[in-house]
Amino acid sequence: MQKVYINQLSRHVGEEVTVEGWVYNTRSSGKLMFPQLRDGTGVVQCVVFKKGVAPEIWEALSHAGQESAVAVRGNVRADERAPGGFEIDVADARVTQQVEGYPITPKEHGTEFLMDHRHLWLRSRRQHAILLVRHTVVNAVRDFLNRDGFVLMDTPILTPAACEGTTTLFEVDYFDDEKAYLSQSGQLYNEATAAAFGKVYCFGPTFRAERSKTRRHLTEFWMVEPEMAYATLDDVMSLSERFLSSIAARVLEERQEELKVLERDTSKLEAIVPPFPRVQYDDAVKMLQEGHERGEIENRFEWGGDFGAPDETYISSKFDKPVMVHRYPATVKAFYMKRDPERDDLALGVDVLAPEGYGEVIGGGERATSLEFLEEQLKLHELPREAFEWYLDLRRYGSVPHAGFGMGIERCVAWMCGIEHIRETIPFPRMLYRLRP
Ligand code: 4AD
Ligand code: MG
Repeated sequence: MQKVYINQLSRHVGEEVTVEGWVYNTRSSGKLMFPQLRDGTGVVQCVVFKKGVAPEIWEALSHAGQESAVAVRGNVRADERAPGGFEIDVADARVTQQVEGYPITPKEHGTEFLMDHRHLWLRSRRQHAILLVRHTVVNAVRDFLNRDGFVLMDTPILTPAACEGTTTLFEVDYFDDEKAYLSQSGQLYNEATAAAFGKVYCFGPTFRAERSKTRRHLTEFWMVEPEMAYATLDDVMSLSERFLSSIAARVLEERQEELKVLERDTSKLEAIVPPFPRVQYDDAVKMLQEGHERGEIENRFEWGGDFGAPDETYISSKFDKPVMVHRYPATVKAFYMKRDPERDDLALGVDVLAPEGYGEVIGGGERATSLEFLEEQLKLHELPREAFEWYLDLRRYGSVPHAGFGMGIERCVAWMCGIEHIRETIPFPRMLYRLRP
C-alpha cells in the first residue's frame, strides 16, 4: 500500500494508493458519498459506494464532518470533470478523528472572525494559494541574489539604536538596565558586511512600532536587503528592475494554479519587465499638482512633503509598470542618505512604487560616505553617537560609494497575488491591535 500526496496522483493512475488528509467537503446521495480530501498539497474527490466498503466504515465516514482526519485507500482514476483531474475509488478508509462544528464553513465570514481563527483559516483554499505564492517569492529572491553574486549576511535583530527613525522602535529590556531595540532594518550592518564581502544581502524579520492601520502596514514584516560596495543610486535602480522582474517571472512560471484561485489578472504580472520608468521627485510633484488642477486629486501636494498612499497610487496609475521615484527632499529621508552633489537639498534615494495601488515596495539609495557629514546628521537626528561609533568607522577606513535597498516581502506578495490587504500574505500577521493567535 503506497502512500502518496495528492499533487503526485497523476503518476499513479490505475494504481491503488493511500491518501492521508482532512475532509474538505462532502456530498452524499444515499448509496454514494463524495468526500473531498485535502492533504496540504491539493484536494481530491473520493468516491465511496455504500456496498463497496465495510458498514462501519460507511458509518464512520457519514459522520466525518469538515476537517475530520481521514485516510483513504483506493484506485486512482483520471477524470476530466473532477476538480484536480483525478478521483479515488475508495476501497477502505480510516477515520482518525471525527470532527463536528468546524468554525470556518464555506459560507462568508467577517475578517475579524477569520483573523481570530487564523490558525485554522490557513487551511482555506485562498490562504493556501497566497502562502504558496509567498513561498515562491522568497525562493525567487534568494535564487536571484545568490546567482547574482550576493553573499548572505544575517544581521542582528536586537540592536542598540535606530536605523529608520526613533519613532517606530520596539524597546526591549536587555541586561543591567540597558535597552535594546528590535531591528527596523539590517542596512547599517549590511554596510559593514558589504565592505568586507562586496555584494551582500540580509533577509529576515524587521519590526516597526508604527501606529498605521492600513492595508500595507505590519508591525513585524520580512525584509530582504541587498547592499553593494562601489555602487551608486543608478546601480540600485538597475538592480531593482532586474530583481522585481525576475520575481514576477518566477511567480508566473510556478504559480499559475494559485493565481487562478486568486483570480489574478496575470497580464499585470507579465508587464513587469525592464526598463521601469524613472521619475524625479520634482516631476512626480508636478504630476500630482497637475492632477489637482484637473480635479483628479482633492488636495494640492506641496513640494517637500513625503507621499501618502493616495499620492503614490495616483503617480503609479500613470504607468503600467512599477515606477522608480528618485531624489526626494533630504528632509523626508533617513539620516544615512547621500546628498545629490548637484542639489544639496535632495537625497539620492529611490522608492519603487508598484502599480495598481500597491504603493512603495522597495526603498533604497546611495549612502553618505563622508565622516563629517554623518557626524553632523547624527546630531541633527538626535541619535546617540556612541551607538553609531562602529558605523562611523566604516567612513574612517576605506569609505567608498555604496548603495542598496530593502523590499518588504509581504507587500511584494500582496501585489503578485493582487489581493487587497497585506495581512493575508504572512501565516501569522502582527499588526496594530493584532498580536494573536
Ligand atoms: O523604506 P524602508 O523603511 O527602507 C529601509 O528600511 C532601508 N533601510 C532599506 C535599505 O535600503 N536597506 O523599508 C523598505 C521596505 C519598504 O519599501 C516596504 O516594502 C517595506 O520595507 N516596509 C514595510 N512592509 C510592511 N509593513 C511595514 N510597516 C513596512 N515598512 C516598510
Ligand atoms: Mg521607505
